[in-house]
Parts: sequence; C-alpha cells; structure tokens
Amino acid sequence: IQKKLGHTNVILVGMMGAGKTTIGKALSSFLGKTFIDSDHEIQERTGVKIPVIFEIEGEAGFRKRESEVLAELVEKKNIILATGGGAVLNDENRQLLRRSGIVIYLRASVNDLYRRTRHDKNRPLLQTQNLYARLNELYMQRDALYRESAHVIIDSGKQGVRFLVQKLINRL
Ligand code: S3P
Repeated sequence: IQKKLGHTNVILVGMMGAGKTTIGKALSSFLGKTFIDSDHEIQERTGVKIPVIFEIEGEAGFRKRESEVLAELVEKKNIILATGGGAVLNDENRQLLRRSGIVIYLRASVNDLYRRTRHDKNRPLLQTQNLYARLNELYMQRDALYRESAHVIIDSGKQGVRFLVQKLINRL
C-alpha cells in the first residue's frame, strides 16, 4: 500500500469528534507519512488556543486563518492532514483539499459525536446548553459538504482504531 500511494497526501475531513486526529495518527505510522493537524498548526502559529482566537477574532477570523494554513499545508508532500470540522464550509477549501490528495470523510452518527464531545471545553461551537441539538444542526449543514469534498467515505461507528485503519487501507 505504501508503494501504491507513493507521496500522495491523505486528508481527513469530518465533524468534531469523528476521530480525525486519532485515525490520522494511526494511519501516519502505518503509511509512513507525516501527521499534521491544521488546528494544532494554527495554535502553534498564533501561540494561543482555538477558543482564544474565537473570542478575539470571532469565527470569521478563525476561518480566515484556517484557510491560509490549509493552503500552505497542502503544498507539502507525503502528509496525513487532519482538518478542522469546519474546513469544508468554504467552497475554495473544498476544491483545494480535493485536488491535494485523497480526501477521506470520517463519518460518525450524531449519537457517537455526542458521546465523544460531551465533556469538551476546547471547541467553542460546542459550548452550549443543548449539545445534541447543536451537533445535529451542524451535521445537517455539513454532511453534504463532507461528501462533496471526499473521495472515500468511511463510517467510524463504534469500531476500534485498528479495525478502522484496516478498513480504510482496504479502500485506498
Ligand atoms: C470546528 C472544529 C474544530 C476547530 C474549531 C471549529 C468546526 O476542529 O477547528 O473548533 O467548526 O467544526 P476539530 O474538528 O478537530 O474538533
């Protein structure tokens, strides 16, 4: 599989809590590619956590930084890129990602997303009284955009990391 993929980038899209970072790291050691997380990169560059960026610059400010960082990162070769859940909201980002590697939509049900994000304090969009409703709303808005961006769709379900990675490898 390493030979077949060559230096092609593998790009993960999907909702917050879908497992992009976990699966991305596992894939990275399996495929021998460097793992990069765009949110992590934004935090490194600004020197502050994502919630602080949202607080000071609003979501629009964050999206601008996100698009800039994505455009830069996709210039690299042989990487596994985990994108933020909102990366696909922008039409140009969707096209950019699609032509920069194999894009995988890691799909998860709203129930699973809820389970994985319920104690999360680092995602500004999820700091709400009704987390389930918020996730459901975001899922409804975004599912089609993830599908439109992706070459491969993988259901993350309740399976373990190893199983998912194997499933994914079989589809690459
Ligand atoms: C966001 C997802 C987050 C982060 C920011 C906004 C979103 O990334 O970029 O909080 O709009 O879905 P993760 O998907 O890695 O949690």
